Amino acid sequence: MNITMIGTGYVGLVTGACLAEFGHRVICMDKDTDKIDRLLKGEIPIYEPGLDTLVAKNVEDGHLKFSSDLADCVPEAQAVFIAVGTPSSRRGDGYADLSYIYAAAKDIAVHLSDYTVVVDKSTVPVGTARQVKRIIKESNPSADFDVASNPEFLREGAAINDFMRPDRVVVGTDSEKARGVMKEVYDPLFLLSTPFVFTGLESAELIKYAANAFLAMKISFINEMSTLCEEVGADVVDLAKGIGLDGRIGAKFLHPGPGYGGSCFPKDTLALLRIAQENGVTARSVEAAVEINSAQKARMVKKIRDALGGSEAGKTIAALGLAFKPETDDLRESPPLSILPPLAEKGAKIRAHDPQGMREAKEMYPDWTYVNNAYEACEGADVVVLFTEWNQYRALNLAEIKEKMNGAVFVDLRNVYSPKQIQDAGFKYYGLGRM
Ligand code: UGA
Repeated sequence: MNITMIGTGYVGLVTGACLAEFGHRVICMDKDTDKIDRLLKGEIPIYEPGLDTLVAKNVEDGHLKFSSDLADCVPEAQAVFIAVGTPSSRRGDGYADLSYIYAAAKDIAVHLSDYTVVVDKSTVPVGTARQVKRIIKESNPSADFDVASNPEFLREGAAINDFMRPDRVVVGTDSEKARGVMKEVYDPLFLLSTPFVFTGLESAELIKYAANAFLAMKISFINEMSTLCEEVGADVVDLAKGIGLDGRIGAKFLHPGPGYGGSCFPKDTLALLRIAQENGVTARSVEAAVEINSAQKARMVKKIRDALGGSEAGKTIAALGLAFKPETDDLRESPPLSILPPLAEKGAKIRAHDPQGMREAKEMYPDWTYVNNAYEACEGADVVVLFTEWNQYRALNLAEIKEKMNGAVFVDLRNVYSPKQIQDAGFKYYGLGRM
């Protein structure tokens, strides 16, 4: 099958490469000619484990091509995926900015020839697929097409595996014919007995937001429980295990942390609240999840300040991890970048390390010191704070860390180490929901 992917951001590139791996002939298209030039040279603009190899293999096999010209790609395609960005609007009001989606719909319309399914892959508010349909119809009344909504559930850092072995695939469309095309797109997954949810456009669009909001709620719930654990002397790790083994609750996404970040949960929870509000409905549980997440980041500032004896002025903080989660260089809405700046403003010096995120961080916070590894970060530090649970921070030589430091305080915001491990190494321990 010939497939066009519009947008070579995170979702577009991963989806395009994986569909090529399924055996389809995929052209990834982007208006950004620089980006396409880099991709043609074999450069991958994002860090995602395994993506470079997958792209290279499929380019070599002739299954994956890149282009900056829609006229090259759309007329031949049986399915055209829209995977352009939908950032929060610049007004900061929770609306998703749909201008890129609508521009793509207009551009596609003029190039449509034979029957084509136009697939919304981007995360979009309910009603967007119908708008896409209207725009295409208005721009090209004779176009033979249907629209489908096919939300993605990929996690950064694990995206290829998530695509190849998904928990489910959701496809929303009103058309039986489009359903047939979508089945063909995902044929290898049918063979693996992956569950498919075929539904309407609005349901598919809402499923995406509801899934992310539910996961955000789960994280905020466990973060709130971690605060309670600290007050009553309970251990949140045991608590998470104790509730997570109940199959109705499930053990995943019950790890407390410095707050959820990234390009999805913060944006999508706000967008869901906006959709609810516009439709005269409350979504109090999601509202609470968002509030708890902000409070969690503020609580982490206080935790670090307390660990420094009540004042950060003139103290040095070794920050391990700047990305919002491991295996990504993505700094968007990353908790350490909300937690460290207020401490730096009050006179703390930051020595930071992240395996992938430092290039961008240097541009955002040029005054901080960036080093090559966790041990260098700890040189002369009064406190070490573990923000992101990268594998290379999971088995640190704690004695060596302590030797390099000025103080002996360890703040583990991911509960990577047990309190005993840290205390036995001679540190004062601060974790989340355990002591
Ligand atoms: C999330 C969803 O997990 C994907 O299913 C979805 O496709 C994606 O958003 C999207 O909408 O595109 P992602 O943002 O890549 O994926 O990362 P997650 O692994 O979900 O982590 C999000 C944040 O939650 C991170 O900051 C992480 O540290 C935090 N988190 C996660 C916790 O604090 N505790 C947990 O137990 C799990």
